[in-house]
Amino acid sequence: MLYSLARPILFCADPETAHHLAFVALDTQAKLGLVRAWAGVVPKKPVHVMGIDFPNPIGLAAGLDKNAEHLDGLAQLGFGFIEVGTLTPQPQPGNPQPRMFRLVEHEALINRLGFNNRGVADALPRLTARSVKVPVGVNIGKNAVTPIERATDDYLSALRSVYAVADYITVNISSPNTKNLRDLQASKAVAKLVKTLVKERDLLAKSRGRRVPLSVKIAPDLNDDDLIDTVHAICANGADAIISSNTTLSRSGVESHPHAHEMGGLSGAPLTLRADHVLERVVKAAESVPVIGVGGIMRVEDAQRKLDLGAKLVQIYTGMLYRGPGFVGELVRGIRV
Ligand SMILES: Cc1cc2nc3c(=O)[nH]c(=O)nc-3n(C[C@H](O)[C@H](O)[C@H](O)COP(=O)(O)O)c2cc1C
Repeated sequence: MLYSLARPILFCADPETAHHLAFVALDTQAKLGLVRAWAGVVPKKPVHVMGIDFPNPIGLAAGLDKNAEHLDGLAQLGFGFIEVGTLTPQPQPGNPQPRMFRLVEHEALINRLGFNNRGVADALPRLTARSVKVPVGVNIGKNAVTPIERATDDYLSALRSVYAVADYITVNISSPNTKNLRDLQASKAVAKLVKTLVKERDLLAKSRGRRVPLSVKIAPDLNDDDLIDTVHAICANGADAIISSNTTLSRSGVESHPHAHEMGGLSGAPLTLRADHVLERVVKAAESVPVIGVGGIMRVEDAQRKLDLGAKLVQIYTGMLYRGPGFVGELVRGIRV
């Protein structure tokens, strides 16, 4: 209700300013303990996935809290888990602005942020000192200046850095905004990358006495055959979960919008159908490896459909921008697990 008044004001500002203002409000209200009122009653709907207990299956997708700065407020909204990042080994500014565009009539966004983040080391103290009770995943990527042939070095470096503070770690090989990143999804490339990272994780698990699950986040733009090969390669090499999916390069359904030609990944309502098509195939191919469903969850039925298709957890991003902070509680109340 309140958000229907705030949204037109927020949407007058450019998307990055609105993002900043929304987080100022969230953090202030969180300090005063008022955010729970926005969320409403959030019932427990516990699920156990990747060896982790989640209070409910509705998570925040990566990219909204890239630097792990807003965990308290986000947890108070009722999320069952929060994925921070993408964090890269070194800080980087991302692409020049403007780099995020609203397609309001389509309840969609196009973004080409390009992993703007302050780097792994900056986030570590906040992740270490966090008091939120819900699981926190850390999504890692490669720096833009690292040649793609050296991508594994960046993932290894980020994995070692965040290992102690993550409940699970996501290997992001599916952002459309880092040059050639999606090439890492080719079955041979992803097999090699996942094998190397799982081996390193196993060494860390031994030395630290704690095993942190690894998930791999894929794009919705692979054709059906390549998709199956990619999923098989990810699962055969020991990943603990697949996140399906990231934003799409397709402009299907939004072709005539003035922003449709902007480079970047499309998210929100126009992604729902494609994300579900991909999710269904990923769940089948992944067999016993759990899948986290993301993409175009704009209402309770969208989340329920992903769960019915076999996703063990789901994540939201664009839906929250359009529906407001009460959307998390609405989803948790509305879904059957
Ligand atoms: C502005 C923006 C930034 C994003 N940044 C990241 C990111 O840093 N890492 C990542 O893995 N996904 C990122 N994503 C993708 C989301 O996590 C999610 O996979 C995608 O938006 C589809 O879900 P949605 O339709 O609910 O938004 C970003 C999405 C948006 C809209």
